[in-house]
Amino acid sequence: MPALELLSALGHEEVILVRDESAGLRAVIAIHDTTLGPAAGGTRMQPYPSIDGALVDALRLSKAMTAKAAMAGVERGGGKAVIVGDPSRDKSRALLQAFARVVERLGGRFHTGPDVGIDGRDAAVMARHTRHVSFTAEGASVTVADLTALGVLEAMRSVARRLGGELRGLRVALQGLGQVGLRLARLLAGEGVRLTVCDVDARRAERATAELDASRVAPDEIYDVEADVFSPNALGGVLSDATLPRLRVQAVCGAANEQLEEPRHGDELHRRGILYAPDYVVNAGGLLSLLFELGEVDEEGIVRRVTGIGERVSELLERAVQEAAPPFRVADGIVEERLREARAAHGRP
Ligand code: NAI
Repeated sequence: MPALELLSALGHEEVILVRDESAGLRAVIAIHDTTLGPAAGGTRMQPYPSIDGALVDALRLSKAMTAKAAMAGVERGGGKAVIVGDPSRDKSRALLQAFARVVERLGGRFHTGPDVGIDGRDAAVMARHTRHVSFTAEGASVTVADLTALGVLEAMRSVARRLGGELRGLRVALQGLGQVGLRLARLLAGEGVRLTVCDVDARRAERATAELDASRVAPDEIYDVEADVFSPNALGGVLSDATLPRLRVQAVCGAANEQLEEPRHGDELHRRGILYAPDYVVNAGGLLSLLFELGEVDEEGIVRRVTGIGERVSELLERAVQEAAPPFRVADGIVEERLREARAAHGRP
């Protein structure tokens, strides 16, 4: 769908196109919905082939942030920023400063932090020019990736229970061994899960295989692995026409954002009897970490909140069984209901 059609279809409040020639900055800031609070969402930097591609990504990811916050009970709205460029080549101090100044001009309507291609050091550079950025401090005892992985672990525990078992002995095919994927793999291995892993970075896959006593497959073979759960922790859009017929698992549960290429793929998973734990419920640890970064919750409190993702997933899966509906449809319904109630309470249409 072209970006402008998508914009009205997804119901965004505001989208800002940013261009600063002298700093080499081209970016999109998408504010989806601020009913529950100011928009929160990371800033991503990728070499998008066009500004249209960047816009589509920002639109989809910011809508997912609204859903994530609503389901996690965080009083924030959904937003996301994407910067067009190759982080290893195009990222400069001037670019980060120029971007941060735009965030500052929004006056707190959008609060951001690191995402793919933007790390804590970049966020620290931005923080000199805007109050509306946060990140896990250097040397902090828990990082955003730790919390995201912990949330996925607890979600996986609930999925295993729903499948009639426990984590010990569960067979998981895990895609992506980056910041979150490797931490998750370590947690799962510690619980006695049998892992098959892959990463496009062969060295990373090799190291993890040795450390975790896991099996390893080539990146494209992960969809064919016979296992209990497929855990996507790399890219979005991995549940598609191309991959669905190949899956030989009973469930899907992972950290990647926007796993369904289109909503119909979630319906198709349901039709095939594959339990899909909705990405934005499972990976909410990343958003919850914001409360820790801002000092609203201490370490013990944040670990408790993130561990609660397991309970949330259990309730959702139970309700989906009762309603004979795919869990992601049930979750979308809950989000809509929460936003409707909040709008009514604020007297908004
Ligand atoms: P990352 O960039 O550190 O790791 C991604 C890993 O996937 C890399 O090791 C990369 O080599 C690998 N990869 C890329 N394409 C692949 C492919 N086709 N097959 C196998 N491996 C492939 O990213 P990070 O931070 O671990 O995030 C992973 C996913 O989780 C992303 O979708 C992100 O949006 C999502 N997420 C991350 C959060 C965080 O706290 N970092 C929070 C919530 C969601």
